[in-house]
Amino acid sequence: MEKRLRTGIPGLDEMTKGGFIRGDTMLLTGPPGTGKTTFGLQFLLQGIQDGENGVFITIEEMPKKIMEDAVNFGWDLKRLQAENKLRIYQLQSDMLQTGGTPIMQCLDIIKDINARRIVVDPISLYSMNINNPNELRRELYAFVNYMKANDVTLLMTHEVPDILARVSKISDYGVEFIVDCIIMLQYVEMESEIKRSINILKMRGTDHDKAIRKYEITKRGFEVLSRFEGYEGIMSGTARKTGAQAFIEAFKK
Ligand SMILES: Nc1ncnc2c1ncn2[C@@H]1O[C@H](COP(=O)(O)OP(=O)(O)O)[C@@H](O)[C@H]1O
Ligand SMILES: [Mg+2]
Repeated sequence: MEKRLRTGIPGLDEMTKGGFIRGDTMLLTGPPGTGKTTFGLQFLLQGIQDGENGVFITIEEMPKKIMEDAVNFGWDLKRLQAENKLRIYQLQSDMLQTGGTPIMQCLDIIKDINARRIVVDPISLYSMNINNPNELRRELYAFVNYMKANDVTLLMTHEVPDILARVSKISDYGVEFIVDCIIMLQYVEMESEIKRSINILKMRGTDHDKAIRKYEITKRGFEVLSRFEGYEGIMSGTARKTGAQAFIEAFKK
């Protein structure tokens, strides 16, 4: 069985030196609108193309809305659901409020279509309803370990509230310590424009690109582009030219 998985995100498999690792858990962080949902769907669509069924567990958005938005990218999620290759499942919010193990309600759906790729989008809201951080950590551990034991590849998204900010920590509940890989999406202010940056903060068991790269969301979906050449301070949300870059530009004039 191939250990590396194509993610379906152009440019990303080069960053990870060959794709995600089967059975790993990835955390995708970013403020609203950075493309986390799009990324997650694209990852599942590639899986289906490669013979791996997928489940998209949504917490905020209605499955209907997700399917409608996907049409704009040319993705026919309805058909894939009808073919039992994909499930879009909304966690019941009353389950979230009453505590218990809401995420475990997904296991039946996962088993039902023998899903090999799972997306949970986003885990942040889920966490708000569990007051006891130890309980949350325990449940997330159990979920992640179940996926790992079954060689299921898991992508969880985490919505960070601040649009343009230096990120000092990933989350309040320690999820960053149980995941194998962290991918950060950020907005960057640069020359009176808002650009988007992606970087791999950590990835266990493999070398990976340490560069901060640009990315775009186009009508085809999420796409990684070149690195930010000649800029620094990108992760602070406000980039500035490096001294060398400023010198080069002054010299050109
Ligand atoms: N059909 C489309 N073509 C181009 N860009 C799109 C399209 N649909 C959405 N977008 C872009 O994707 C962004 C939202 O992506 P989404 O995956 O919903 O982000 P998140 O889940 O992080 O909030 C929008 O802000 C918009 O810029
Ligand atoms: Mg979203």
